[in-house]
Amino acid sequence: MTFDRSIKIAPSILAADFANFGAEIQAVEAQGADWIHVDVMDGHFVPAITFGAQTCKAIRPHIKTIMDVHLMISPVDAYLEGFAEAGADFITAHVEAGPHIHRTLQNIRSLGCKAGVALNPGTPASAVAELMDMVDLVCVMTVNPGFGGQKFIDMTAKVRELRTMIGDRPIHIEIDGGVDPTTAPLVAGAGADVLVAGSAVFRGGSVADPAPYGVNLKAIRAAASAAL
Ligand code: DX5
Ligand code: ZN
Repeated sequence: MTFDRSIKIAPSILAADFANFGAEIQAVEAQGADWIHVDVMDGHFVPAITFGAQTCKAIRPHIKTIMDVHLMISPVDAYLEGFAEAGADFITAHVEAGPHIHRTLQNIRSLGCKAGVALNPGTPASAVAELMDMVDLVCVMTVNPGFGGQKFIDMTAKVRELRTMIGDRPIHIEIDGGVDPTTAPLVAGAGADVLVAGSAVFRGGSVADPAPYGVNLKAIRAAASAAL
């Protein structure tokens, strides 16, 4: 996996058919998805519960691109090995999920995965200032985590601040929540390169009729690229 800052769109399977993840992943990749974003929720750190490492392992063979696992769970550390064994490429933990994010990131890298740190909308960029040499991705939440389909919260200033903080380091800036063709240019223009999108990718399509996934992906990519 070579590092680059080109725009990558990561559909969140939170917006896919939960009874049909394998086929949904194959369909959305065939329509042009760059990464697959996998939202793990525990009903404790966030209100909803989705699924865990066993589901990640089951869907892994269907992913040809990158498996981007977003852990909205607390505590985190005891579960990392399971997600690494499930085949995650990136594992992202929240800076708010516990007192030892530094240790969590060390653990993720020692398991052979790329390490990501996520910031809730209420958390400033400075919260990750000491972590710049131990992360491969910073995820800026543009909704309060827990549900798909929420309204975008403008975090453009935070993205700019992170972009400056990152400098030449090979660290992705990922945006998660409310990304669509209207909001994508704001964050792409500020320096984000990975755009997670759930509802804006999966709306209007299905495994039986996947063409709308491609139309939706193209619209987000075109809008983001126009801002560069
Ligand atoms: C929110 C999740 C997001 C979510 C994005 O808690 O982390 O990945 O699925 O969904 P949309 O694009 O619908 O806001
Ligand atoms: Zn997510």
